[in-house]
Parts: sequence; structure tokens; C-alpha cells
Amino acid sequence: MHLARLRLRDFRNYARLDASFAPGFHLLLGDNAQGKTNLLEAIYLLATLRSFRGVGGAQMIRQDQRGYFIGATAVTQGDQDIRIYWSPQERRLSLNSQPVRRLVDYLGTIRAVVFCTEDLQLVKGTARVRRRFLDLLLSQTQPGYLALLQRYMQTLRSRNALLKRRDTAPAALESFSHELVRAGNELIRLRRELIPRLSPLARLAFRRIAPETEELALEYAPSVKTDFSVELAQARRREETFRATLVGPHRDDLRLLINGQPAAQFASEGQKRTLALSLKIAQAEYLAGIHGVAPLLLIDDVMGELDQKRRGGFLPLLERVHEQRGQVFMTCTDEHWPKELGLEPHRWEVRAGTLRPIS
Ligand SMILES: Nc1ncnc2c1ncn2[C@@H]1O[C@H](COP(=O)(O)OP(=O)(O)OP(=O)(O)O)[C@@H](O)[C@H]1O
Ligand SMILES: [Mg+2]
Repeated sequence: MHLARLRLRDFRNYARLDASFAPGFHLLLGDNAQGKTNLLEAIYLLATLRSFRGVGGAQMIRQDQRGYFIGATAVTQGDQDIRIYWSPQERRLSLNSQPVRRLVDYLGTIRAVVFCTEDLQLVKGTARVRRRFLDLLLSQTQPGYLALLQRYMQTLRSRNALLKRRDTAPAALESFSHELVRAGNELIRLRRELIPRLSPLARLAFRRIAPETEELALEYAPSVKTDFSVELAQARRREETFRATLVGPHRDDLRLLINGQPAAQFASEGQKRTLALSLKIAQAEYLAGIHGVAPLLLIDDVMGELDQKRRGGFLPLLERVHEQRGQVFMTCTDEHWPKELGLEPHRWEVRAGTLRPIS
């Protein structure tokens, strides 16, 4: 899979961009604040319809303009033509000239994994960041997952709204609880199945990078210990105090352990970075394994920060991308390309919202 063409109109600091990309490695070089990350953001948006910076659509519209447009041709089995237009008044998404009605019909057209400094939040941040990581990976690999998650979250919101009211109608609450348990149990099952598949990949990536004596383990830490339905009933009294649903997969976590100790509290800064990187490498390898094609890798600045050993952790993944004719977009202020790879990247200069090949 690769991105053959990209068109941007009024996206961030790009008034107009028309670019073609071959499969392989693309190095985006440029000074600070020229539009390198913005370009990765646009590509990630094509894959997930979200910004990896966690911002909404309005921030991505070029200053003083009405809306942004992203057009792309993705090459998978055949060509896929994607068009996204976003303005506060109007959102349009089409795939091969057909309007996309349900997101599930679209997601998966392009798969991407981003490596950026915010990845550190996977280790340092709250459980929400790790849940989002699991949810994204499951959405990228399990056909019904996204719809299931949406159903669960919708039911959760309705149930919480009911709990906020003075006169919680018991029958309505019962019906929401029933639906919550049904969708919730399915989420728990899929998350529980994922971890033992992901864990060895993360462990291996970590082992390639970290000192030999350090061992990484991932553990699923579900909010529900044995029976969702029973535990929800048991929490009823506390729910009256807190007026919110207190147990369920919306409270799950992914436990990260280095030599058996929780990484957030015990790991050094360097270990935390290695761990975050290993999780992302595992995500990419898992996707490549399931789909038989490597996802697009979007690497923002992190190479420069990494010493040779950590960069070495990337190499097997990059080799795989090379073999499968995938694509890597990597930004740098100066060249940190891992020469160990022996592959020549396509080099581009990014300057003030323009992109120019460097010959
Ligand atoms: N909505 C917008 N409209 C116009 N310009 C924007 C918008 N959003 C961001 N910018 C500008 O885009 C520029 C480039 O941003 P970007 O984050 O891509 O830089 P970069 O090349 O990755 O720099 P660095 O090396 O510092 O990470 C910044 O100057 C920023 O002010
Ligand atoms: Mg940047």
C-alpha cells in the first residue's frame, strides 16, 4: 500500500500542494515551522479522519480561509481516490467519487502508524491514552469493532445522563444497563484477545533496543474483574453518590511493566521513550502481520532524538516496509536517516508550505 498522490488546499500552512510519491522512503527536510508535521498530519487524517495532534477540524483550516480540502490516491489492490472537504458548515468525504455514508465503510482504506513525541503519553499519560491506542488498533483490525465501541459509548452517555437526573427511572436504567453489559462484554473479549498477540511484538521490539537485562510485559487491566452485570449491580450505591457509571471497559487500562514494575512510576525517561517506541513498532508490525501489507509509517522528528541503538529497533520494520513496497514519511530538520539501512530515500525540501524534490 502506498500514497501515490496528495493534494492539499488551504490545509494548515499549505495554500496549495500537488505532489506524487513513489513507494519507498521519503525524507521531509526543512527548518522549524515550515510544514513538515502538517504534511504528516494530513496523511494521518486520510487514514483515521483525525489529527494525531488531538485537535478539531477548525484548527487545520488555513488561516482566514473557509475550509480545507485533502485529496489523495492510495494504491492498494487498485487505485483508491479519496476526497475530504471540511468546513464548520459542511463535511464531505468521498471514496472513488461515492459519498461515504458510514465511517466503517471507509476506515481501512489507508492504514497509518505515526511516531511522534506525543507517544510518550502512552507511558506517562492517563489510561484514556492507552485505551485509545487499543481501540485504534482494534478498529484497524476487527471489522465490527468501531461500531461496537460507538454503541457502547452511546449507551454509556445515555446511562450517565439518566444517573444525573433526580428521578432515575428504574426500568430505563435497567434497559441501559442491559445494553451496556452486552456491548461491554464484547469489547472486553476483543481487548483481552488482542493483548497476548501484541505483547510479544512489543517485547521483541523493546528487547532490540533496551539493555539485555530489561524485560517488557503488557497486561490487560480490565475494570470488570469477573462479571460485568454483577459488578455493575454492586456499584449501584456508589453510582448514586457519583452519578456516573463506575465500572466497565471505559475504565480499562493497559498495564506496562518493565521487569515487573509499572513503567509510569519506575522507568527512567529513556526507558519510557523506548517503551513508547516499542508499542508503536508493535502496532505497525501487528497491522502488517494481519493485513499482509505494511501500514504507512509517519515518523515525526523522533529519529533525531534516538541514539543509534534505538534507531536500530526500527530497522526490521523498515526492512519489512521495503520488501512489501510500503512507504515511510519521515521529517527531520537535518538528516538522521539510518545509513545502516543501505537504502536511498527520496529527499524533499519543505519550506513555508511548499514541497520540492531535492535532486
Ligand atoms: N491553520 C493554520 N493556518 C496557517 N498556518 C498554520 C495553521 N496551523 C499551523 N500553521 C503554521 O504552520 C507552520 C508549520 O507547522 P509544522 O508544525 O508543520 O512545522 P514543522 O515544519 O513540523 O516544524 P518543526 O521542525 O518545528 O516541528 C507553523 O508556522 C504554524 O504557524
Ligand atoms: Mg514538526
